[in-house]
Amino acid sequence: MSFRIQPTAPARPNRCQLFGPGSRPAIFEKMASSQADVINLDLEDSVAPSDKDSARANIIEAIGALDWGNKTLSVRINGLDTPYWYRDVVDLLEQADERLDQIMIPKVGCAADVYAVDALATAVETAKGRKKKIAFEVIIESAAGIAHVEEIAASSPRLQAMSLGAADFAASMGMQTTGIGGTQENYYMLQEGQKHWSDPWHWAQAAIVAACRTHGVLPVDGPFGDFSDDDGFRAQARRSATLGMVGKWAIHPKQVAIANEVFTPSEEAVAEARAILDAMEKATQGGEGAAVYKGRLVDIASIKQAEVIVRQSEMIAKG
Ligand code: COA
Ligand code: MG
Repeated sequence: MSFRIQPTAPARPNRCQLFGPGSRPAIFEKMASSQADVINLDLEDSVAPSDKDSARANIIEAIGALDWGNKTLSVRINGLDTPYWYRDVVDLLEQADERLDQIMIPKVGCAADVYAVDALATAVETAKGRKKKIAFEVIIESAAGIAHVEEIAASSPRLQAMSLGAADFAASMGMQTTGIGGTQENYYMLQEGQKHWSDPWHWAQAAIVAACRTHGVLPVDGPFGDFSDDDGFRAQARRSATLGMVGKWAIHPKQVAIANEVFTPSEEAVAEARAILDAMEKATQGGEGAAVYKGRLVDIASIKQAEVIVRQSEMIAKG
């Protein structure tokens, strides 16, 4: 272990982030009563330019008026390359109830983007005497975002989560892809004439997880656009969970249950992790640093892997 201890990420469930356009207030109540851990009310790309002002007003009203339970409540503001974002931040922090937990900053390309929002948010919070400091989450969805992913992860103590936004990311990278996330037809290896599909999102996800884990931020997988394809969503979510991500977005309510299922460690996985911890406990008592569990080696590193699963399961159980 480095002398610098790895910080822990915020201890709150983030298995699913359910999105809904701010211009569609009729679904806010349904979002609030969903099983998603995080709610993202959107002011950005799901809202047409002519609706930005009314969407902002809808969201500000709903933050105070609806019962959001113990969910993390977040609003996605517009990008820093638009004329809308400053008004999003100012109006939310001047007018919205302190129930609002988080602001999501899209298309972040460098740490200075987060610094700019931090400076504005700090000024408004201080001027208005807000007691709760707003948290931030960001989306990595450009070439610049992934190139600067580590400085972005380290950019502000407000930062709690970082998502990969596959569609904008693919466009910015000039990738020849269609669809939002998932398997890409042309990304395959050939073995004896047979196609074997590979995962074009893998490296960006791994870079995000590494940056997040280094700086105590939650790594999250973004949207999967084909909400008719449950198996495709599940497969993508399982790959993300395997790589260390803690959750995934839902752009339709039917995706929430699948994300919760995948990102909640199963009873079998928790039982196995506890058995490994027991085996190691016995080995340690006997003065050994390693043990055999079901015919395979377990050692100090296995304790840490098992603890990840047990901790995740206990944190989710607490809600
Ligand atoms: N959250 C909660 N409930 C939602 C919802 C959402 N995001 N989207 C739809 N619903 C509700 C509908 O109101 C409907 O409810 P009902 O059964 O009481 O009538 C039910 O879920 C089924 O909806 P369906 O008809 O299948 O979908 P739709 O055509 O109404 O909406 C989308 C489909 C994709 C347009 C919509 O889900 C949506 O806007 N998703 C979020 C998009 C977004 O925020 N994108 C930005 C991030 S990438
Ligand atoms: Mg986007």
